[in-house]
Amino acid sequence: MRIGSARMLKGKIDLPGDKSISHRAAMFAAMASGQSSIENYAASEDCASTLKCLDSLGVDIKQSGSTLVIEGAGEAGFKLPSSDLDCGNSGTTMRLMAGVLAGAGVECVLTGDASLSKRPMRRVVDPLTQMGAEFETVDGHSPLTIKGGRRLTGIEYTLPVSSAQVKSCVMLAGLNASGTTVVIEPTPTRDHTERMLEQFGVSVGIEIDGTARRIAVSGGSRLKGTSLRVPGDISAAAFFLVAAAIIKDSQLFLPFVGLNPSRSAVLDILQQAGANMSIKVHDTGKGEPVGDIEIMGSGTDGLAKDRIVIEGDIVANVIDEVPILAIFGTQLEGGLEVRNASELRVKETDRIDAVVRNLRKMGAEIEEREDGFIVSRSFLKGAEVESFGDHRIAMAFAVAGLVATGDTVVNGAECAAVSFPDFFDQLAAVR
Ligand code: S3P
Repeated sequence: MRIGSARMLKGKIDLPGDKSISHRAAMFAAMASGQSSIENYAASEDCASTLKCLDSLGVDIKQSGSTLVIEGAGEAGFKLPSSDLDCGNSGTTMRLMAGVLAGAGVECVLTGDASLSKRPMRRVVDPLTQMGAEFETVDGHSPLTIKGGRRLTGIEYTLPVSSAQVKSCVMLAGLNASGTTVVIEPTPTRDHTERMLEQFGVSVGIEIDGTARRIAVSGGSRLKGTSLRVPGDISAAAFFLVAAAIIKDSQLFLPFVGLNPSRSAVLDILQQAGANMSIKVHDTGKGEPVGDIEIMGSGTDGLAKDRIVIEGDIVANVIDEVPILAIFGTQLEGGLEVRNASELRVKETDRIDAVVRNLRKMGAEIEEREDGFIVSRSFLKGAEVESFGDHRIAMAFAVAGLVATGDTVVNGAECAAVSFPDFFDQLAAVR
């Protein structure tokens, strides 16, 4: 994909449904008794992988545009799949489905693409094994064989890595375990599972102690089908918010964006850096908070002079936004520093390495650290960069191309479809 520099961005962005929330909505509806309807289900390849897995497990899913009607497997349970469950590029599909299936009594194999096969799965296999599940892996990686017919027992588990996928996996397995399952997270991660289980009629006990949270679910809790609408994906919004903030005279409107506080630190960071943004919060009652965002381009001279530092507890909140925040950092007088983010090394690609390599090709000054980087204000020049097969790297560098001189070529940019299939069309429409 070739990207030229942009004078300004103007218009409205229709975001895909939130990826994290969509996966959970489909899985919970599949586990529930009765019918669920899900509006604004993400049109992303990752979320299609979840639907394919559920379909192979005999779940009846009717899709019309972005609306799904799912008949839950409920008490009858899942059918034995006739082939492997292909999770594609989606870590959330594999890790959450491992929890859903660990005590579900169906023997099956979870597979994925080359990138997913390299990602660590011990982080879910270990706690599930402690609960009584049995797995075969390839040295801690997928394919992941889940043995059928194992009975699970609730455990108390402190997350060794800050991961909502691991937390959710253990909680979901806990629904099929005897007794209570408790997950302790030392630092908060996205809480979509906790919120959505409540929407499906399951009570979740949450105790907060400083930054730590103790989350409890009771074995045997039954999910009941429900209706919900998935908010727009704030992680997808971030590419356009940064682009508009750094290109003077831009004006973008992004309606119906998910504003869950465990995901929205990117907005605080943009505001702290002087981005001119207004947010109108909708009244959605319980469930996920949502609002409309309008952003006006400040241009690089209108932004803050101080260095932005992202570290500690806030890292999990913005973990998916770090690649685009690195591009933002190239336009800030004080630059931007990321620490405590070594999780980025085990995402769809090593995102620290990918950001550093690509930004250096574009002439940026960036220092690589094991757990992050420091990027200085840089004059970007068009270059040929790589997506490394990672959707967020592809989209971040498309935005870099908008503020670079000359043309930027992002090789392998089609992988943007993993989370945002019409990203490039929408970008073309507002420039
Ligand atoms: C996700 C959690 C995060 C995030 C991923 C989606 C989720 O991963 O990076 O894109 O839906 O729970 P980790 O749990 O590995 O941090």
